[in-house]
Amino acid sequence: HEADAYRTDLMTLTRHVLNEQGRHPESRGDFTILLSHIVLGCKFVASAVNKAGLAKLIGLAGETNVQGEEQKKLDVLSNEVFVKALVSSGRTCVLVSEEDEEATFVDPKLRGKYCVCFDPLDGSSNIDCGVSIGTIFGIYMIKDKDNVTLEDVLQPGKDMLAAGYCMYGSSCTLVLSSGNGVNGFTLDPSLGEFILTHPDIKIPKKGKIYSVNEGNARNWDVPTATFVEKCKYPQDGSPPKSLRYIGSMVADVHRTLLYGGVFLYPADEKNPNGKLRVLYEVFPMSFLMEQAGGQSFTGKERALDLVPTKIHDRSPVFLGSYDDVEEIKALYAEQA
Ligand code: AHG
Ligand code: MN
Ligand code: MN
Ligand code: MN
Repeated sequence: HEADAYRTDLMTLTRHVLNEQGRHPESRGDFTILLSHIVLGCKFVASAVNKAGLAKLIGLAGETNVQGEEQKKLDVLSNEVFVKALVSSGRTCVLVSEEDEEATFVDPKLRGKYCVCFDPLDGSSNIDCGVSIGTIFGIYMIKDKDNVTLEDVLQPGKDMLAAGYCMYGSSCTLVLSSGNGVNGFTLDPSLGEFILTHPDIKIPKKGKIYSVNEGNARNWDVPTATFVEKCKYPQDGSPPKSLRYIGSMVADVHRTLLYGGVFLYPADEKNPNGKLRVLYEVFPMSFLMEQAGGQSFTGKERALDLVPTKIHDRSPVFLGSYDDVEEIKALYAEQA
């Protein structure tokens, strides 16, 4: 009946974070304010992405970024929006973005105590064909507010305070953890609010899906090749796994989080450290996976134990359902 159509106990992202904030009285709302600025950035990008084809926002921006990738217009626009939103929040002091070669040190007058590493637009190769893309972010606490250095962001992922992503797909979904589990929120465009739709997400212990770019198979190492072979030709009589690969990390990880399975971007001969960047792709997604009961492995160690040396460092990554990643760890242990 009518009453069901309009739930009145709307749990918005802001209310949810304020409830969480109760656990961090010392933060005096700073984290909530920081998050509200990240959310503003996500809403802006969601709107731009939805109009990309119409607003001539597809195609190349004519520049190349530090990754050697041709920047898309939406890469550049999203980056500008997030940098401005984060600086204007007055709660950040160092920013690391995929699209900026150097870290951004916020003007001392506007400095706060958080460092944010972000991928403003993830899955750029999918922009022009309308396939899901996203934004990924990770948040650290500054070590010494009066002495801000690059060391403040070259911290192991296990020191991250919070991490999340926003996926711009059939709906706009923001998934977030501040160390007390993972929650998913869906943007209600009529309210302009993110509403809690996926409380306390837990990834299935074992999955039936593997997600990898098989086009790199020729260059894989033995443990990766063996794992993928076992997915296709199981020796224990179980049915073969399904392959699902979208090519936007946010979309592949979101499906893995909800359905279970494993996402892998292994090293290969061309890229001995794989392709995905530690600070703003591997760490945030690994943080979320662990918070949801899954795990994340680099081929050598727990992903969150990695200590980056440069802000655009890359690492191989195997993340997802706990038992599936255990299988991969065993194969690498055999090879070690
Ligand atoms: P970005 O668009 O931010 O540069 O990231 C692209 C990444 C990631 O989204 C995805 O998992 C991976 O690139 C896909 O790489 P391949 O096309 O080599 O499979
Ligand atoms: Mn890129
Ligand atoms: Mn990316
Ligand atoms: Mn990107």
